[in-house]
Amino acid sequence: MTQTIDFNDENSNTSANPSFDSVLQARLSRRGLLRGSVGSVGTTLLGGLAVSACGGGDSVAAIVPKDPVAPVETLLSFAAVAKTMADTVTVPAGYTASVLYALGDPLTAATPAYKNDGTDTDFENRAGDHHDGMEWFGLGADGKPSTSAIASGLLAMNHEATTDEKLSSFFLHANGGVSTLPRPAAEVDKEVAIHGISVVEVKNTSGKWATVPGSAFNFRLTALSTNVQINGPARGNALMVTKYSTDGSKARGTLNNCGTGKTPWGTFLTGEENWAGYFTRSAIDDTTRGDKSVASLKRYGRNAAAASRHGWESAGADDKYARWNISQGPGAATDDYRNELNTFGYIVELDAYDKTKTARKRTALGRFAHESAAFGKPVAGQPLAVYMGDDSRGEYIYKFVSAKAWTAADANPVDRITTGDTYLDSGKLYAAKFNSDGKGDWVELSISNPLIAAYAGYKFADQADVLVNARLAADAVGATKMDRPEWCSTNVANGEIYFTLTNNSNRAINSAVMPPDSANPRVYTDIKNGASAQNGNPNGHILRLKEDAAGSTAITFSWDVYVFGAESSAAPGTVNLSSLTGEQDFSSPDGLVFSPATGIMWIQTDDGAYTDVTNCMMLAALPGTVGDGAKKSLSYTKTDGSALNVDTYVGKAPGADKLKRFLVGAKDCEITGLCETPDGKAMFVNIQHPGEGTKMADILDPGKYTSQWPSSAGYGAGKRPRSATIVITKNDGGRIGS
Ligand code: FEO
Ligand code: CA
Ligand code: CA
Ligand code: CA
Repeated sequence: MTQTIDFNDENSNTSANPSFDSVLQARLSRRGLLRGSVGSVGTTLLGGLAVSACGGGDSVAAIVPKDPVAPVETLLSFAAVAKTMADTVTVPAGYTASVLYALGDPLTAATPAYKNDGTDTDFENRAGDHHDGMEWFGLGADGKPSTSAIASGLLAMNHEATTDEKLSSFFLHANGGVSTLPRPAAEVDKEVAIHGISVVEVKNTSGKWATVPGSAFNFRLTALSTNVQINGPARGNALMVTKYSTDGSKARGTLNNCGTGKTPWGTFLTGEENWAGYFTRSAIDDTTRGDKSVASLKRYGRNAAAASRHGWESAGADDKYARWNISQGPGAATDDYRNELNTFGYIVELDAYDKTKTARKRTALGRFAHESAAFGKPVAGQPLAVYMGDDSRGEYIYKFVSAKAWTAADANPVDRITTGDTYLDSGKLYAAKFNSDGKGDWVELSISNPLIAAYAGYKFADQADVLVNARLAADAVGATKMDRPEWCSTNVANGEIYFTLTNNSNRAINSAVMPPDSANPRVYTDIKNGASAQNGNPNGHILRLKEDAAGSTAITFSWDVYVFGAESSAAPGTVNLSSLTGEQDFSSPDGLVFSPATGIMWIQTDDGAYTDVTNCMMLAALPGTVGDGAKKSLSYTKTDGSALNVDTYVGKAPGADKLKRFLVGAKDCEITGLCETPDGKAMFVNIQHPGEGTKMADILDPGKYTSQWPSSAGYGAGKRPRSATIVITKNDGGRIGS
């Protein structure tokens, strides 16, 4: 329920950017949109994805997978799961979901079992908390990396955050911990260690999946790890200089890791999302600094005197605590942590197969509240495109294009992480502008763009400054303010890119900053039983775009809204614009993953608007293509009586066989992270923060926890709730989603 937590949806975009050109223009010809489209895939996947092959001359044709014949089966033939508030994970009849890897589970053979009573320690060797994005890395029978292995592999996953009340991550401490300053060092050490990522080996033995606690592959990278370096244009820049790294080449740890990605060369990408809230700076810091760094700090959500999320800076004089106070001291940047905030907010790449390799913060991909990083389909001889969203209210969508052209030989390189250096350390970063005619522009964020070089809001020193302050650069070029971009994913059938826009309480008819626009067109009130009304775009939507040329070279695209989240009973003309039924309705889409095996798009929710009716959920979708629906005009009346008309483009309403609820999670959880074995027969999903509505005062009374999940064998009812990875299999051995 991140929308109730300030740290998770901070709003720092006060720029006067209009969301789009207010002059409504005629929609472009659909001819361009439909050229090379999927046509009707239907619910039967024939010959893999070959039905989506395109006519000659369409560059998209080149990115359609040419997979050999896949099993002929009916996808989405399962019976939809009903909305429920039960404290369990529900999957369709014929499927089994089992808990595989929960908060605190040991990663080494020597680590004791998790007692789950607040006395456990040694989190550097245990699963972290708030499991989030996750990727699969196969291991062959010889124990070596394998892209085809289906029985053994590594799960690399994010541990985004903890369940808090005031300052304390209370489920981690015996009596709930100290929620006032100063925080005890022992509590802080646990809380820091529980953030970051984990890599854990998993194995299928006679049909039962389990982790391998003693595996030499297992490791943690925490918010304190030293095995992290800064790469790309900002490496060594004055903006990155800290007491910890006086030459600006290193960062310490990774933090608030949310969405993920997997590179074509076989490494793991993790996005640093709501990192700013972990830091504090003094009430006089604006005055002390007296320079442009104040504008940067404000744009990234750290005002002077703002309290930190956990008070980690208060635990002692040691450098590992001092780093969380980013106030400028009397000396030089090498004497304090004034620049520490600049070392977070990146896509971080690491080699899941090799814990000895140093992780890289990829500054070329820009600094913001990163979610997932989705590659367009690699095409030999062309650069690579990486799509990304910035999850805060009114933030932007971005694309990175590598300088280096893709070489198929790099799909299986000798050294994966240095291969990453060659693709992700130099290239171009773009921000998206969505126009009212259903077209859009990628605007390069370059110091040579006069709009950026002469921007009145911030004086950029160089290209590194543009990347570190990508939000300000995107402000300068008039990028479109979106309804909180979360995950993005590439449709394996046709290369179109889908973005979840989770919700936006600040979208408002009379707002000068964020009025409804074509790409974010809905403003309405959602009434939640027993709670105050939620305004803006409470249920979110999923937007998709189709590049006008190969993704890595296109600077224009077409777009529409694939689907609007809504309650099925909501007004069809203004809210339930996609005509969702009770088997399809959802709110606040967040996780989004196309399955390479089946082509199904999996939608996961992190909601606070429909949670009076149902826990968060996961749906399976077989979407069509950009432009398969129709133009829709929405009319609003402003308080001065004038009319505000917004044209948008709504994808074809998904039929019962094209969108269906597959899973509902435990109480107070969000569903996030998804990966599969390459055969599509084992799916791994994360259940994040069950029971987060529990009050810290009830810590010793399990009967008052809002969730006791997971209560399955080996975990136990009556215990503190735990974020966990589950594995889903089909009882008949079939593929997930069939
Ligand atoms: Fe970590 Fe934007 O969700
Ligand atoms: Ca969350
Ligand atoms: Ca998310
Ligand atoms: Ca979210």
